[in-house]
Amino acid sequence: MKFTTTLTAASLAAVAAAGKDAFSFAVLRFDGDGFLTEGLVDPIVNPGAQASHYHGVMGGSNFGTTVEGEQLLDSKCTTAKIKNDKSNYWINHLFFQDPNDPNSFEKVDLFYMNVYYFFEPGDQDVEPFPAGLKMLSGNTTTRSPPAAGGKINLDPNQGPINPVQWTCPRTSYDPPSYPADSDGSMAGIQDPQNQGAGVGFPLYPCDGYASPHRQDIHFPSCYNPKVGLDDYENNMAWPTNNGGRMSCPEGYIRVPHLFYEVYWKTDAFNDRWTPDGKTTPWVLSNGDPTGYSSHGDFISGWDEETLRTIINTCNAGTSGMDKCPNIPGGLNDVQDCKIPAPLGKVLASSTKFNSLPGNNKVTGWGHGGVTGGSVESTPASSSSAYDAGAASPTGAGGAFIEQSSTNSPAETPVVSAASTPENNPNVEVVWDYVTVTETTTIGAAPTPAPAKRHARHNHGHGGFAGRR
Ligand SMILES: *[C@@H]1O[C@H](CO)[C@@H](O)[C@H](O)[C@H]1NC(C)=O
Repeated sequence: MKFTTTLTAASLAAVAAAGKDAFSFAVLRFDGDGFLTEGLVDPIVNPGAQASHYHGVMGGSNFGTTVEGEQLLDSKCTTAKIKNDKSNYWINHLFFQDPNDPNSFEKVDLFYMNVYYFFEPGDQDVEPFPAGLKMLSGNTTTRSPPAAGGKINLDPNQGPINPVQWTCPRTSYDPPSYPADSDGSMAGIQDPQNQGAGVGFPLYPCDGYASPHRQDIHFPSCYNPKVGLDDYENNMAWPTNNGGRMSCPEGYIRVPHLFYEVYWKTDAFNDRWTPDGKTTPWVLSNGDPTGYSSHGDFISGWDEETLRTIINTCNAGTSGMDKCPNIPGGLNDVQDCKIPAPLGKVLASSTKFNSLPGNNKVTGWGHGGVTGGSVESTPASSSSAYDAGAASPTGAGGAFIEQSSTNSPAETPVVSAASTPENNPNVEVVWDYVTVTETTTIGAAPTPAPAKRHARHNHGHGGFAGRR
């Protein structure tokens, strides 16, 4: 796949027509305006029913308990910056479980979210997502560490896939974010190449430069049209990676490689917990205090020709997809796109609830499950069931019992002048898409816009070029 400069322009064009040779990407930024909606809704896994856990959802306003085919394309508005992107992007919401009162849960608010669109080299063209394509990455059931250990692995030829991590830059890694010899059964596992990342929740607060806790989720980029749009458990595959060129299995269509970065305002809780090197106050909405079950969902609501143009002509990178040239349909001109929760209600921020939505029990790492105990953080007798429920599927039925309003003001992320030190700069990379999050501009965010994020500079822009 190495082309020398002796190739003529014509032959390069011929090669390009047969596939993609240059790596390009663009980040779709969701600034600090919150989600489109939240709730016990998941039209991929639980269509037409109450979802098992609470999600935060970005994107097109035609989201609901069922989403089929081209339904999203008719959305009146979207939280995406591109007018013709009515896709939905969602994740399991993060909560704070008060260490001093295990029956008290508060939402961790979203800071902002980035969705990377990687357009990778390969012999096949990268095609737009077909409208209505449903994808899920990660595993909501698991409370066990991935077989891949602390690192991301997206290449089936390199061993078991692990598409999810947590990233948590700190001004100092003494003590380390994960126990040095962790096997994942009692705490998470550090990424061997990055002290600021790993699988499972880190044990110390993220206090790097404007750097709250980040949920990282990669998606597979090979779609099998024979399986179809709705069969999210079987319709996608991970491409193999040969020196940066991606290959999909026979009969699959190559689509963009999505990567979610979800930044949570965990720093608002810094004075509410004391790290002990063993436990964290974080719990995912599905009752997971380990962080292993992090997952993301996507339904495409792209106008296909708009996305095709972006794939073929844009390499805006971290400056943002909204900086792509000549985007068909242009930029989103509707502010504040929000819809009510399709089921239940959007939970208030800064409010204590005495159970997780759906009354999910907390299991894993000393909460039963993994360690063999049976301690549940919420007593069975609790009357606090969310109860958005089957009995009132469209309704505002039920609610958490709100214990009290904390009225705690949103805190400003800790901002220090110091850069987060980059560590192990020379370690070999066995996976390719390390996050490229050097520059972040947060439009309307009420907090100082971080000028720099410190993720893996050693494998930043240069890394992409250097790989091939
Ligand atoms: C998800 O995790 C559960 C529990 O560890 C496991 O049994 C199941 O096979 C996993 N599912 C997938 C699709 O890997």
